[in-house]
Amino acid sequence: MSNILNRMNPVFAKLDGGLFSTAEKADVGDVAKRMEEMGVAMMSWADPFKPDPSTPEAVLEAAVEAIREGTSSHYIMPIGSPELKELIAERIEKKSGLKLDPERNLIINPGSDNGLLFAIFPWICPGDEVLIHDPSYPNNFQDIEILGGVPVAVPTYEEDEWHIRIEEYQKRITDKTKMILLTNPNNPTGVCYTETELKQLADLCIENDLICVVDQAFEDTIFEESVMVNMAQIPGMWERTVTICSVSKGMGLSGFRVGWTYADDVIMDKMHASAVSIQGAASTMAQKAVVPAFKDDSFIKNYIKKYDYRRQYGYKLFNSIPGVSVLMPEAGFYFWINVKELGSSSEIVKYLVEEALVNCNDGKFYGTQGDGFLRVIFAVFDKDEDCLAAFDRMAAAFRKRAKEKGLMR
Ligand SMILES: Cc1ncc(COP(=O)(O)O)c(C=O)c1O
Repeated sequence: MSNILNRMNPVFAKLDGGLFSTAEKADVGDVAKRMEEMGVAMMSWADPFKPDPSTPEAVLEAAVEAIREGTSSHYIMPIGSPELKELIAERIEKKSGLKLDPERNLIINPGSDNGLLFAIFPWICPGDEVLIHDPSYPNNFQDIEILGGVPVAVPTYEEDEWHIRIEEYQKRITDKTKMILLTNPNNPTGVCYTETELKQLADLCIENDLICVVDQAFEDTIFEESVMVNMAQIPGMWERTVTICSVSKGMGLSGFRVGWTYADDVIMDKMHASAVSIQGAASTMAQKAVVPAFKDDSFIKNYIKKYDYRRQYGYKLFNSIPGVSVLMPEAGFYFWINVKELGSSSEIVKYLVEEALVNCNDGKFYGTQGDGFLRVIFAVFDKDEDCLAAFDRMAAAFRKRAKEKGLMR
């Protein structure tokens, strides 16, 4: 019998995680649905307050109004609502000092996953190499491969608190290197890269004529002790950087599917020309609904306060258990927990589902440096007590496992 997959682009043909998946990935197929039905806390969804209702009132009202007034059934400008783009440009200037022309430098995407692929797309020719910090967001590796490029993992290390070593980048530069792909703040490590690190990477980009694509999906969730620096504002980088972001993480509005991409107008000229055919448009209704979140984003402060309380609690709890260690996240709303002494990360993910009714992510999906680590989302649930109860169940399971391993009595 002929195998139709032999006719498929080999990168697609080898993708796992679909209908016939053998991988127990939490966000794929009906595995997540089955777990939710069993009452498992899904600490694997990077989605604030899921599964509880959490839309800010002003956004809720704008969404209802956007449907009622009747024109949301039409296409909006394919590269984004002018009103929304103006508000986003103002916000970027307030946060980083970058002055954008919203008509020329900004497009709206249906979420930043789509934005990430579209930001990479124009640059990658077969065989082009892209330097990607490891561990990082799985799509970073997959998107490059799908486009025929070569993802080159650049290891980062727990002993450096997952910050970069510039020499690891320098020694991987070849005449095929085209791009540095950066997730800042990083998911899954919760690292917010410093200005010094970004300047080192910027020098490398400028010296070697590289493009920098920066995914800032978590830029709004920065804890007090850290500072978010935008790569595009480093001198010499604006004209070679494409930045993406969305309302999903910081604003907790993932279901609206609204993201944005910004870059110099020389780059944007080509993205405007191809946006409709490649990425499509974000929903008209959703673009109207999120406007109040940009007019007043003070609700984000309360979210960070909640996450901070949960991170302090979890940090103390998990680090008190033999065989378990975790660094304090600088940004984002997830722990990156070292469980190497308790077993492989795949084993521990399964163990936690069975013993603690908690599902988290296996670190091996985030790069070769991720084996032995778990990503645990602490933004889940509206009520702090629901999240802390899940932490407590995890801690009891970790202790049980530590006893089985002879690490404690
Ligand atoms: C680093 C990073 N980028 C992008 C995304 C995609 O987010 P969205 O498409 O909802 O904007 C995610 C989602 O988990 C993410 O973690």
